[in-house]
Amino acid sequence: MDDARGVRAEASPRSIDLSAYDTVWLVAPIWLYHPTPPIRAFVENNRFDGQRVVLFNTYNSRIDQASITDFKRVVLLKGACAFEHLSVRRGRMESQVSPDEILAAIDDRWFVPTSAEGSQQTCRSMRSE
Ligand SMILES: Cc1cc2nc3c(=O)[nH]c(=O)nc-3n(C[C@H](O)[C@H](O)[C@H](O)COP(=O)(O)O)c2cc1C
Repeated sequence: MDDARGVRAEASPRSIDLSAYDTVWLVAPIWLYHPTPPIRAFVENNRFDGQRVVLFNTYNSRIDQASITDFKRVVLLKGACAFEHLSVRRGRMESQVSPDEILAAIDDRWFVPTSAEGSQQTCRSMRSE
């Protein structure tokens, strides 16, 4: 994947063995309406076989939904069985939400206690139902 200006990036390390995990969170800010180039390079260099992938972005103003659709396409091509996109608006300088507020937003929106059998499902548990 190229960035919004058609530039390719490298991520270091290029690949990580993530096979021990059911869910992989990919976390990056939005630049030029797209997830940053290194996180997109990371996706191209790794496999997510049978895993749920969550792309989590911080941003200030706008995210290009086409870039998220394209990101999802590549994640699924790399073997993921499910994809979810979450984002938190960080805000402008001097009014940014704090790291604790970001973590609280993630807890509220993703780790919902009543959905222990819902959003926390793994692909494996979904298949066995
Ligand atoms: C070079 C650059 C480009 C950015 N482009 C966008 C953008 O297109 N859309 C947007 O909503 N935020 C954009 N931002 C704001 C960042 O997404 C925001 O600063 C970041 O998510 C804040 O998280 P951080 O403090 O953890 O880096 C940009 C920031 C930088 C530095």
